[in-house]
Amino acid sequence: MIKIESLSKSFGKIKALDNLNLDIKKGELLGIIGPNGAGKTTAIRIICCILKPDSGDVLVNGMSIHQEPIQIKSMIGYLPEEPNLYERFKAKDLLRYFAELYGVPKDRITGRIDEMLELVGMSHRADDRINTFSKGLRQRIGIARALVHDPEILIFDEPTMGLDPATSSNIREFIRDLKGDKTIILCTHYMDEADSLCDRVVILDQGKILDMGTPNDLKSKIHGDIILNIKVEDPDDGDIKLIQGLSTVTGVDVVDNQYTISLRSKKDINDIINVFEGDILSINTKEPTLEDVFINSFKQG
Ligand SMILES: Nc1ncnc2c1ncn2[C@@H]1O[C@H](COP(=O)(O)OP(=O)(O)O)[C@@H](O)[C@H]1O
Ligand SMILES: [Mg+2]
Repeated sequence: MIKIESLSKSFGKIKALDNLNLDIKKGELLGIIGPNGAGKTTAIRIICCILKPDSGDVLVNGMSIHQEPIQIKSMIGYLPEEPNLYERFKAKDLLRYFAELYGVPKDRITGRIDEMLELVGMSHRADDRINTFSKGLRQRIGIARALVHDPEILIFDEPTMGLDPATSSNIREFIRDLKGDKTIILCTHYMDEADSLCDRVVILDQGKILDMGTPNDLKSKIHGDIILNIKVEDPDDGDIKLIQGLSTVTGVDVVDNQYTISLRSKKDINDIINVFEGDILSINTKEPTLEDVFINSFKQG
């Protein structure tokens, strides 16, 4: 659906994108995570035909950003990092303006505006001006605006940044509901957001891809699947050897009387409990988070 080919872009001495290659499949929700300045917004602005690359191409349904920017723009709904909404407009007039701009058929416009306001829970604010809205409400209108022409592709740049937890989870719900119907790119530096929403995640830093995979793939890459913390009464070198010998154990670390054991499978927890034979004071498990993967990528990179 979207094919990014050898994309590079510099601003003076800063290489914002450094020979980026990426394929995004139809119906996929792809997350791009990376620290500030990684190049996320630059990549998105190029895909949306707002910014020209120094070299490389993006093909959207086979159309090149160099040849057919207008057609590509009409296929994409874009929620920018800081949506520039016309402050004096009423919510419904803003949506009408964009519906007309994107060529929604005249007889469909009013219906479409009502549907979009309903979708983002803003029907009761249709006649209020944008400048009376909080950040969270603006973000909802920004999403309605991105969706008004029913684009096949949606691109959200940091959609929950600076929002309170309840509003963020609300916005995530909208995005989750769109999954499957649309091809979606979500830029975020919130790991839990990428983890809970995305089919696939790309870790970007300094304009380059450091790693890529499903959230689970990335997490299992670093530590095995789960991490077990066990405190024992009386640590013993023989026990460490026995545990290391188990086929699904990928790592053992001992500090004082506390063992940290990485396991491929939950099944093996029982074998480990047997090794300690009632010597256990406490036991808990932890699944690695995307944050762990992220930190790990930087250690390697
Ligand atoms: N218009 C611009 N002019 C100069 N430098 C820019 C511009 N846009 C982005 N940059 C620089 O390019 C790099 C990547 O920025 P950006 O794509 O916004 O990263 P991200 O969205 O991942 O935080 C940063 O170092 C940023 O300062
Ligand atoms: Mg950005």
